[in-house]
Amino acid sequence: MPERSLSPKPACESYVEMTELVLPTHTNPLGTAFGGQIMAWIDICAGIAATRHAREVVVTASMDDLHFRAPIYQGEVVILKAQVNRAFHTSMEVGVRVEAENSLTGERRYCSSAYLTFVALDAEGNRVPIPPLAPETEDEKRRYEEAEARRLYRLERRNQDRNVVARPHPPLHQK
Ligand SMILES: CC(C)(COP(=O)(O)OP(=O)(O)OC[C@H]1O[C@@H](n2cnc3c(N)ncnc32)[C@H](O)[C@@H]1OP(=O)(O)O)[C@@H](O)C(=O)NCCC(=O)NCCS
Repeated sequence: MPERSLSPKPACESYVEMTELVLPTHTNPLGTAFGGQIMAWIDICAGIAATRHAREVVVTASMDDLHFRAPIYQGEVVILKAQVNRAFHTSMEVGVRVEAENSLTGERRYCSSAYLTFVALDAEGNRVPIPPLAPETEDEKRRYEEAEARRLYRLERRNQDRNVVARPHPPLHQK
């Protein structure tokens, strides 16, 4: 097997643009896309970006708060853009932007954005180090700097969740 390189990689090498069409099977009775469907596309798009950076199998560790700012209607085109913002040791943050396009007019609107963290694993399921990210543009440098604060915040929240789960609690259906 070839030696893995851990040299820094440009952020743009991980860039992914994915295009989907909102079909009747993706919608609720109002004719707008299910949030869960958009989340699945976000996860896939971000996962491809993470894999492009790590060139390893990656799993989703977390997705930060997700806000849907505008509905996306049946028949519209969904454009998802993802790129790695920062790589840490075995994990990396990926940013995703979601836009909806009216396919008849070409008009686009911003609908949502998300930050996801992926962890790289080897064939045995052990975590593996990934290359650092080399941001180049001003936007990439800004996202790189901001990613550190988000990482600290989400790890703190993960630890709070673990403490809640670890605390003894009474059975749900106590009489
Ligand atoms: C994600 C997973 C590999 C992390 O392993 P772990 O032993 O719990 O995590 P650790 O505390 O040792 O941290 C490992 C790395 O993951 C990061 N991490 C772990 N949990 C995280 C979370 N909830 N959010 C963000 N980053 C997280 C840590 O910061 C660390 O990063 P670093 O190596 O870059 O410093 C493990 O929890 C797992 O396998 N989860 C299930 C993944 C899955 O099935 N996803 C859905 C389908 S793909």
